[in-house]
Amino acid sequence: YGTQEVNETGHLTIGGVDTIDLAKTYGTPLFVYDLALIRKRARGFIETFKQLGVKAEVAYASKAFACVGIYQLAQEEHLSLDVVSGGELFTALQAKFPAERIHFHGNNKSYTELELAFDSKIGCIVVDNFYEIQLLKEISERKQQHMRILLRVTPGVEAHTHDFITTGQADSKFGFDLNNGQADQAFDEVKDHEYLELLGLHCHIGSQIFETDGFSLAAEKLMNKIGEWKEQSNFECSVLNLGGGYGIRYTEEDHPLEPQDYVSEMIKTVQALAEQLRLAMPEIWIEPGRSLVGDAGTSLYTVGSHKNVPNIREYIAVDGGMSDNIRPALYDAKYEAVIANRASHNKTNTYTVAGKLCESGDKLIVDAPLQQAEPGDVLAIFCTGAYGYSMASNYNRIPRPAVVFVEDGQHQLAIQRESYENIVQNDLPLSLKKSE
Ligand code: LLP
Repeated sequence: YGTQEVNETGHLTIGGVDTIDLAKTYGTPLFVYDLALIRKRARGFIETFKQLGVKAEVAYASKAFACVGIYQLAQEEHLSLDVVSGGELFTALQAKFPAERIHFHGNNKSYTELELAFDSKIGCIVVDNFYEIQLLKEISERKQQHMRILLRVTPGVEAHTHDFITTGQADSKFGFDLNNGQADQAFDEVKDHEYLELLGLHCHIGSQIFETDGFSLAAEKLMNKIGEWKEQSNFECSVLNLGGGYGIRYTEEDHPLEPQDYVSEMIKTVQALAEQLRLAMPEIWIEPGRSLVGDAGTSLYTVGSHKNVPNIREYIAVDGGMSDNIRPALYDAKYEAVIANRASHNKTNTYTVAGKLCESGDKLIVDAPLQQAEPGDVLAIFCTGAYGYSMASNYNRIPRPAVVFVEDGQHQLAIQRESYENIVQNDLPLSLKKSE
């Protein structure tokens, strides 16, 4: 992956930095992000649109991994930003991310969150439901402030990794249904509003997708709707946001496409329909999360105890687990790993990598081919950059790991390791009546 190599001492290096040195310097568990790889992915998407001559915004779906440092990098790489909560928005503002390039998502944005969006003058709100339309009208009228919006629609196309399903009415908690009149009603409610400026439509059909057909079909459905609205109300759509969802390689079973392959099909579909329906070509916005940061992240752990279950399997336990990577427990997600201090050795053993949390399902990898492992070794699990740290918890009161960025032989801490003090900082002692 990216800039990973094995150096002359047999250690795994990332971005020219020895991972064993990183483990010593910052401790484990540790997330290591390869910035060069994130830049490469971001440029891959941006260049594709440039080459195709299509106006576009590539918004980083920051739910995949959010912190001040990654928002700074996103800005440097000319990405826009997709945020889904007041917390992500606040973090982006702390990072001085240009507000006009922030898009705000969510199926239950609160009044306070929406006010923060208005006050910080973000670029666009992706409107999810009728209640939100009501709140937006109230806030914009009270503040007499304009806001650009997209309507999030559910096109009835749902993609799952290698195939997609189409349904007349998708059972989704997100967005206005495109097929049963909801989207039309939402359009009617916002189209002539004094302060809400409708740019166009948004959809997101799924995550970890390897096929382009689902994206194209969704694009087609949205364009047809835009064509209807143009005909009926002379609506000019300026933006079509087709969400994220591009798959990455976690294991050898995954065969991801290049950024250009993911987007060029759907752009062709949009272009063809724009011509056919006599619509101006809208700007295309996309929202990749996983495909920007997923394979750029590696988790380092220290190996501790072993347990052999004769004739069944051998466990090695590490100093983290489902508290820093819930994906195996939650989605049965698969990963590959290496003993980072013995990376040049052959993988002669098979271990199940267990976490340290009090839950039998806390296994990071089942039956992983690995080098011989001893207590004190450093285990590196690859491709943990998306939805790892961002979904981390303090279950069992385990502090969240540190996060370090590496590039060109340099390393810098992006998120400090949580301390036990951090863990108790919001706890308040009860005033208990003393028994006399
Ligand atoms: N846009 C919208 C509206 C989304 O809901 C999502 C992801 C994205 C963009 C980014 O999708 P990506 O490019 O990262 O696939 N926790 C799960 C993934 C949840 C994705 C939720 N929405 C996991 O760990 O696999």
